[in-house]
Amino acid sequence: MAMGGLPRTRSLRDVVLILLGATTMHLASVFMGFHEHSGSIIVKTEVSSHFLEDYNNTLAAPAADDDREKSRQHDTQKILDSGKSGIDVAYELPETTVLSHAPGWTVFQNLYMSNGTLYIVTSEPASFPHIRMVTSTGLAAENTPENIAAREPTERDMDVISPAEARRRWGSNPDRGERNRVWSVGGNTVLVNEPSQFLDHYYHFCAELVMGVWPFWLGTFNVHVDPSSPRVSAAPHIDRMIFAHAEATGWRDGPGFNSYFLRAGFPSMTVEVETDWRDRIAATATRDVPERAWHFDTLMLTDRSAAFRGESCGSRNQRIASESIEHMEKMGTLSKWWWEPLRQEVLRFAGVDQETLEIGTKADAVAARKNGAEVDWAGSTSLSKPQSIVITYISRQGARRHLIDEDHQALVHALTAMCTAHHWELNIVQAENLTHDEQLKLVARTTVLLGVHGNGLTHLIMMPVTPISTVIEIFYPTGYANDYKWTAHALGMKHFAVWNDTYHTYPEQLLPSYPEGFQGTQIPVYAPVVTQIIQDRIAGRLP
Ligand SMILES: *[C@@H]1O[C@H](CO)[C@@H](O)[C@H](O)[C@H]1NC(C)=O
Ligand SMILES: *[C@@H]1O[C@H](CO)[C@@H](O)[C@H](O)[C@H]1NC(C)=O
Ligand SMILES: *[C@@H]1O[C@H](CO)[C@@H](O)[C@H](O)[C@H]1NC(C)=O
Ligand SMILES: *[C@@H]1O[C@H](CO)[C@@H](O)[C@H](O)[C@H]1NC(C)=O
Repeated sequence: MAMGGLPRTRSLRDVVLILLGATTMHLASVFMGFHEHSGSIIVKTEVSSHFLEDYNNTLAAPAADDDREKSRQHDTQKILDSGKSGIDVAYELPETTVLSHAPGWTVFQNLYMSNGTLYIVTSEPASFPHIRMVTSTGLAAENTPENIAAREPTERDMDVISPAEARRRWGSNPDRGERNRVWSVGGNTVLVNEPSQFLDHYYHFCAELVMGVWPFWLGTFNVHVDPSSPRVSAAPHIDRMIFAHAEATGWRDGPGFNSYFLRAGFPSMTVEVETDWRDRIAATATRDVPERAWHFDTLMLTDRSAAFRGESCGSRNQRIASESIEHMEKMGTLSKWWWEPLRQEVLRFAGVDQETLEIGTKADAVAARKNGAEVDWAGSTSLSKPQSIVITYISRQGARRHLIDEDHQALVHALTAMCTAHHWELNIVQAENLTHDEQLKLVARTTVLLGVHGNGLTHLIMMPVTPISTVIEIFYPTGYANDYKWTAHALGMKHFAVWNDTYHTYPEQLLPSYPEGFQGTQIPVYAPVVTQIIQDRIAGRLP
């Protein structure tokens, strides 16, 4: 894991990437605005300790297939059991360890914080990843060399000190019955170091941050997800999420899906925001020596700028979650069904019935049993009821960026005719007309999600993944953004970018491009292209 020697000369690439990231933010602007969801903060006061003194598997080579399954249950059990064996930091300062690391994503044990600086306490500093791949100053990203330099972390953000130095700063003389000036923040913490710049958008929060946190957490602890009963509770409990650079409104999106998603997926998770983090900083910033420190049992640190310093996010797809997912896939510790527990948990909260929740996992079971033979997905098989085909067109005609009115009308007519002929269900919705529950109930049954590029397509993260699940994204011709394609692929769905009367799909690679007209109200679409894609997909002609 020694990454101490990573090059520091990436500023030109950073310029380009940050430009892309910033553009994405503007494009993913909120349009589904209706009543703000004001989730109450449920404070969990239980302080359990999750020490894992000998937990080490993510630093070792990926396990062979056979061993993986065996080690999984064991690893998880170790975490669940660990609460009772905590070290008392009043008398001992355990050294920091890294359970897993990818650019922008790091799970630490025994990380310390004093006066705003995160401290790695270790006698082996060379074994830790380079700090700039772990964190940043947490400033908002701008496309200037000054800003890129200003986001490089310093010793104020994160420092590495020896155990002797830690004892000198925060230690005591146990012979005289004194205790260390260190207080433990027990349990499992996710520390989000990015500012509100991207956090307050449904796409960036749910489809980037949460879609990075969750697989990294599962992968770190090698959690096996059982498709017949995918449960969030199979993973070690995340006790709290701390937004160190975002206030209460800074992580909430206009339509209110961020808080809905987090509360539904993790009902007992405590949220702390910048003010709370400042409280913790202030509490340790004593003017006189001796200093005080907080100790964090197990802490996942996520940092957007650090993720962009990684090759996958930085050079290939500009998605912070890609560093998390690709790392865990490489380690071989990411369960095939990693997204399913969280998806189902949120949908269950929305009121979705069990049969609908299982569309994806059931379809996969059928595919496995058919073992490669032709499957008529839309028709009946002897193994399962026919999958109902549900086409959902998210109309943006009420929003800024939208189709030419006549093209929208023609598309509605063509979809209606097609769905009537095939007895498929068609939903034409404006997200802002539906409640959160209604939107999620609909997308939980959706086979084909269709719409103009925009935040409404983020709902694809709640679709069941079957061999015919499809996302169709309409762009102003020659325009392109990578967001929803990346997300659809990361979840195992097929994505089509439509440019009026042509379409593009994997393995074609389009480059992001925002021509004049991209954000406008004159986006053309030739309806027969869309209906052809849908019919071909459902018939299995476009696998
Ligand atoms: C932890 O991993 C290192 C490096 O792979 C190895 O040398 C060491 O023996 C491991 N420790 C334990 C307790 O497994
Ligand atoms: C805490 O950090 C601030 C900088 O943010 C610094 O000015 C101050 O001196 C520090 N206080 C202590 C006690 O180290
Ligand atoms: C959404 O509501 C508006 C205002 O009530 C209405 O004009 C529009 O037709 C609705 N959109 C859809 C797709 O039902
Ligand atoms: C869209 O495609 C149709 C069918 O080829 C064509 O008639 C129409 O002119 C195209 N519209 C634009 C704006 O290119």
